[in-house]
Amino acid sequence: MRKPLIAGNWKLNKTVTEATELVSKLKNAVADIDTVEIMIAPPFTALSRIADLLQGCNITLGAQNCYPEACGAFTGEISAELLKDVGCQTVIIGHSERRQLFNEPDNFINRKMKATLKAGLTAILCIGETLQEREDELMFDVLTTQLQAGLTGLTAEQMQKVVIAYEPVWAIGTGKTASSDEAQEVHSFLRGILQGTVDQPTALATRIIYGGSVKPDNIDGLMAQNDIDGALVGGASLKAGEFERIIRFQ
Ligand code: 13P
Repeated sequence: MRKPLIAGNWKLNKTVTEATELVSKLKNAVADIDTVEIMIAPPFTALSRIADLLQGCNITLGAQNCYPEACGAFTGEISAELLKDVGCQTVIIGHSERRQLFNEPDNFINRKMKATLKAGLTAILCIGETLQEREDELMFDVLTTQLQAGLTGLTAEQMQKVVIAYEPVWAIGTGKTASSDEAQEVHSFLRGILQGTVDQPTALATRIIYGGSVKPDNIDGLMAQNDIDGALVGGASLKAGEFERIIRFQ
């Protein structure tokens, strides 16, 4: 019912030449797969070239961020409209690195969600607690706030193009991953919040994917959980072999 989504967030990595090499390898490696949706989000500078390379194949293209206005005097920013124009189908929004390093608040993230959906693209809303918040037992409050604020004003119809990514901040790039059981507990909690905030059909249909040190050796356990519908992969998506093994979870 919920098609698994394995998405690679390349962050600030890969020149156009390196990106081309990686995508060429990946395309061949996963060409036979149709039971998993595969997405990669290279840096902005590689999007146009990679969009050409991905024509007609089973990997879709995403961007790592967008600005909420469609066009205008916003020096240095890129809109969802321009991302669509270059061939993107998805935008990653509210990643913890943007929340923390660039001080992006929930209401700004909500505007990006709306702009992305208005452009007809899929929006991946990232949420996650810090280690301090988890230790202080604020985790569920923080996640509820981030989820509800990110989705404010969206209709059930718009929710069909929303994916939630649970990325505990303490697990990102640290090699520490939430255990499968810990992740499942949170995913199930988030589905409950979606049910209360939107409705039950939406809660059941929305994909909730996990991110934070996802590797070939932990993906199988994560994907065996009822409420984990895929993964948002950072470091391991930069190596074709590792990313392929994650896509071929068992
Ligand atoms: P890592 O897989 O490198 O921990 O990164 C996770 C992430 O932030 C994906 O968006």
